Amino acid sequence: MKFLPVSPESLKEGAEIILNGGLVSFPTETVYGLGADAFNPKALAKVFEVKNRPHFDPLIIHIAAIETLERAADLSLLNDETRKTLFLLAENLWPGPLSIILPKNEKIPGIATSGLPTAAIRYPAHKAACKLITLSSGAVAAPSANPFGGLSPTRAEHVRSALGEKVDMILDGGPSQIGVESTVIDITGETIKILRPGGTPKEKIENLIGRAVDSSVSFEDTAGMISPGQLKSHYAPKAALCVLSREEIIRQPYEKGKAAYLFFDSTTKDAWLKANKEPETAVVKALSENGTVLEAASRLFETLHELDNSDIDKIFAQLAPQEGLGEAINDRLRRGANSR
Ligand code: TXA
Ligand code: MG
Repeated sequence: MKFLPVSPESLKEGAEIILNGGLVSFPTETVYGLGADAFNPKALAKVFEVKNRPHFDPLIIHIAAIETLERAADLSLLNDETRKTLFLLAENLWPGPLSIILPKNEKIPGIATSGLPTAAIRYPAHKAACKLITLSSGAVAAPSANPFGGLSPTRAEHVRSALGEKVDMILDGGPSQIGVESTVIDITGETIKILRPGGTPKEKIENLIGRAVDSSVSFEDTAGMISPGQLKSHYAPKAALCVLSREEIIRQPYEKGKAAYLFFDSTTKDAWLKANKEPETAVVKALSENGTVLEAASRLFETLHELDNSDIDKIFAQLAPQEGLGEAINDRLRRGANSR
């Protein structure tokens, strides 16, 4: 396995690996991806194997220009209204943390989409990712580069310790800026649905298209399995995770032993420390100094990885305000908590 910083040379080499059916982990603005040529069924099968991912969970296909969208999607199957919505979203929110469900191009093998007639397509806002995609086949299937069900990687180092020799190359582009995965949106039905809250806030989408979108399916209702990212248990650290509101966590007494306390903001952290007379040995962290959801999202997985690497077996985590990226943060925390 090659572990290289992003450079014109390493990107070229990575693209060749992808074109030859290999797997390359690469940085994006959300989390690190595990990339394979979206047209190569054998390479796609390897992605499922390496991640230990069930075959019913389809991959996201990454493109690097709106002009090449039709390599991955079949837009002839869209009605006028859906087409209008698509371009409104694509022209305003791409490149960016948004994956749009569209009818798939017939050249995309069924294994990429778990047999579904649709594919989730995303144009990431990350120069190195786009260069890699352009230099290879123009359509790179990439789930998050972590074993199925675990924490997503926001640093190349996370990929190395979780997947290591199972991949052919890891491109190190520094920490992911946004830190939570893309929002997955389905525009093909009568109501527009968010299947997974993520880096593009729901409010931004609603303002753009001028109507409400349905995000109720994303956490509570998983029976239909429209999007396996909806699995109630997912994104889980090794330590048991217990999610609490601001009021609840302030009242949560300090437990001697191996518990960690993960606050959304420093003010709440300070209030808890004061109430607990500053326990010296407690592992106490705040996701955001000044209480912004952007900063908290960018540090969420990184902090959970850190806690997983320390000697704790339980994490009390404070929920974020349910606005903007707070929705994605809370979704990941709740699912992580459901793993036990
Ligand atoms: O930010 C991201 O989206 C990252 C980076 C690498 O781009 N990728 C990512 O991929 O998070 P993954 O595989 O971990 O999550 C893909 C999600 C899953 O919840 C999957 O079920 C859903 O997208 N998905 C993919 N194709 C779908 C489809 N055709 N219909 C419904 N959901 C789909
Ligand atoms: Mg994932």
